[in-house]
Amino acid sequence: MNIAHRGASSYAPENTFAAYDKALAMGVNHIELDVHFTSDDHLVVIHDDTVDRTTNGSGPVAEHTLAELRSLDAGSWFGLQYAGERIRTLGEVLEHYKGRHYFHIEIKARNVPGLATRTIDLVRGYGVTNDVTITSFWKTWVDESRAYAPDIPTGWLVPMGPGSQWDDSIAEQAVESGFTQVCPRADITTPEIVEKLHAKGFVVRCHGIFDEDLMRHVVECGADGMTINFPDKLIQYLKTKGN
Ligand code: G3P
Ligand code: CA
Repeated sequence: MNIAHRGASSYAPENTFAAYDKALAMGVNHIELDVHFTSDDHLVVIHDDTVDRTTNGSGPVAEHTLAELRSLDAGSWFGLQYAGERIRTLGEVLEHYKGRHYFHIEIKARNVPGLATRTIDLVRGYGVTNDVTITSFWKTWVDESRAYAPDIPTGWLVPMGPGSQWDDSIAEQAVESGFTQVCPRADITTPEIVEKLHAKGFVVRCHGIFDEDLMRHVVECGADGMTINFPDKLIQYLKTKGN
């Protein structure tokens, strides 16, 4: 799986239609996206807890209404040609790309009861149950998703926190929880870890691919996929390997 991370985010502002379109133009039909709640209870697609880095606004996402978030420019920070790109609701993204993209939804917010359940209700409402994997670093959300919708694949992003290391108990916990995927950070991934996870029946999908060396490393480890900001480079690399 070549998954455009927040869309093809090396080439267009992350988590916008421009970045998701760019992925399609490259022939990539898997996207990763991040969800948060607004102050008036809507699910929106944005990575950070605040709007400061990726819009012309400021402050926590959770302290803005949907109308306030919609009024922000989510493109100019990346390049003036992207002025007018907007923060989208999860529903808008699912509706717009239904049948064209597979969605790897990462639940970001922590202290919002029922966020996984709400996310899944939307997924069902838009009829994209077969084209979604629910992921999070927060095991609570992955467990909630698994319990509420056992038919929808789940992926646990591990380990929590930059610099933290692999621990075999992660695989044991994932088995107990019945997750579909384990998603280790690329720099700690080894062929042995991938083999262990495969032996337990997991799909192994890596994250944290910051450069092409890590991209190649993940492929060499035998993982099943990765989220990547430059999916075009992965296509090229896989071609050199005869894929
Ligand atoms: O693929 C998961 C990856 O997106 C997790 O990291 O910080 O980019 O959301 P982050
Ligand atoms: Ca993410």
